[in-house]
Order: sequence, then C-alpha cells, then structure tokens
Amino acid sequence: MVVSILFSMILIKLGGSVVTDKSKSMTARHDVIDRLAAEIASVPDKRIIIHGGGSFGHIKAKEYQLHKGFTDESQRDGICQVQNDMRVLNRLIKDGLRKAGIPLASIPAGAIATFDNGKLAKFPSDVFAHYLNIGITPISFGDVVVDKSRGISICSGDDIMVKLATDLKAEKCIFVTAVDGIFPSYPPKDGEGPIPEITPGHEVMFTVKDTDVTGSMQRKLELMFGIARAGCQVQIVNGLVPGRLADVLQGKQTVGTIVKGD
Ligand code: IPE
Repeated sequence: MVVSILFSMILIKLGGSVVTDKSKSMTARHDVIDRLAAEIASVPDKRIIIHGGGSFGHIKAKEYQLHKGFTDESQRDGICQVQNDMRVLNRLIKDGLRKAGIPLASIPAGAIATFDNGKLAKFPSDVFAHYLNIGITPISFGDVVVDKSRGISICSGDDIMVKLATDLKAEKCIFVTAVDGIFPSYPPKDGEGPIPEITPGHEVMFTVKDTDVTGSMQRKLELMFGIARAGCQVQIVNGLVPGRLADVLQGKQTVGTIVKGD
C-alpha cells in the first residue's frame, strides 16, 4: 500500500538503548529524552517518531517468552504488563516532545497491527498519513501485538520503520542509537570511527549476539538495507552525544553511518 502524503517526511526511531538504561528495569533516561525532543523540534520538518522498548519492553518480554507466541496461560499477565510498561515509556517520551512544542498523536502498534506467524501482516499506514496531513506528529512504538497464527508477537519499532518507510515513501530514516554507528571490527580499535557509508557487501564484525526479543544489531542492519533499497536515505546516529541528531536533521555532516541499499 502506498499512501499519498503532501510533502516529504522523515522517520525517526529512538532506540530503546538511548531512551532507557537497558540494564535497569523500567529506567528511562529523562535528560536524554528531553534533549532529543528539543533537537527534533529544532527543524520544522514533517516527521513520524517511533521508539523502542529498552528496559520497559525487552526484560519482561523475555521473562514471559512473549516472542515465542502465546504458548501458555501464564503469559497473559506478561502480555498486559509489557503493553502497560510500553505505554508508560511512551507517555514519558510524549511529555518530552510536548514540552518541546510538538503536537502529537500516539498510535500504539498493539492497537492497530496484526502479525501472522511472526511477520507484520496488516498495518494501517494511512492513519499516520492522515495525522501528518493535518500537521500532527504521529508517534508509535514497539509493542505486543496480535498474531493470527501464534496468538501474539512482538512488533519492534524497526518493523514499523520498514513498513512506514515503504508505504509513505519517507525521504529519510534516522536510527538514533547508543553507538556512533556500525564499526568494521568489535571492539573498535583505538581511535577507529564508524564506517561512514555501508553497503550490503561490507564486511562487518558484530558484538556478541544480542539477546533482545526482537533480534540482534545484524537483523536491524538487514532491515535498514531493505529500507535503503526502497529508495530512502538511512542514517545511524548516536543519540547520547548532544547535537548529532540535530545535525542530521539539519542536513549537516556528523559522525554516524549512512546505510546504502547497493
Ligand atoms: C521492542 O521494540 C518492543 C518490546 C519488547 C515490547 P524494539 O525492538 O524496537 O526496541 P529496542 O529499540 O530494540 O529497545
């Protein structure tokens, strides 16, 4: 489905490792959230904001094995808790964005998305387009969603990014992470910066396999290549360093990795 919007639009994913401390359950980085909100508000562009779960999503989702589908009645409590915790984090992020003067409409994936066998099957991107067309910034986030064959699935913020980037033909997708970009080796050698521009053939060494319920950095990078192949500019930037997101939004050169489709 391609939905028409009346202008160019940017997609911003605030990764869970930036907006939360992933090592401590339900711990938001309030100062980082407020600063990133101000950086986003520094440009008038039309944008959609997506955020991840970090320590509000992954810890309990893993504890209750929610990424494996609905396999046991004891998961019911976990589903409701994770959905609730994600809305708590969403509220904190919305508060930061509102303080920065951005009018918002929150569209939780759990309320609108349908998965089938672990894959996104239905997602009404047109709802996002409608809000954009009337000057309101839509915000969504990774969530527990219904799955036609497995009962439930975890929809990651990255799944939402891929869908919206292709359906709404986003001009640019910015992945705001807690690292400078993709490095050629891990751990990075002394003084080594991230790869400025990466294509699918590039040799990259990833960190130990991530234990997140929504997959590793390698999977995220594969999704990014997919978005780039669809014609969208994709950029990874470190949100823990003040000013870098603002630089990307303002079209200035900054430290980070640009992901190319070929
Ligand atoms: C995870 O979303 C959502 C839940 C675990 C409920 P993401 O996969 O987008 O989160 P981060 O950015 O990796 O933390």
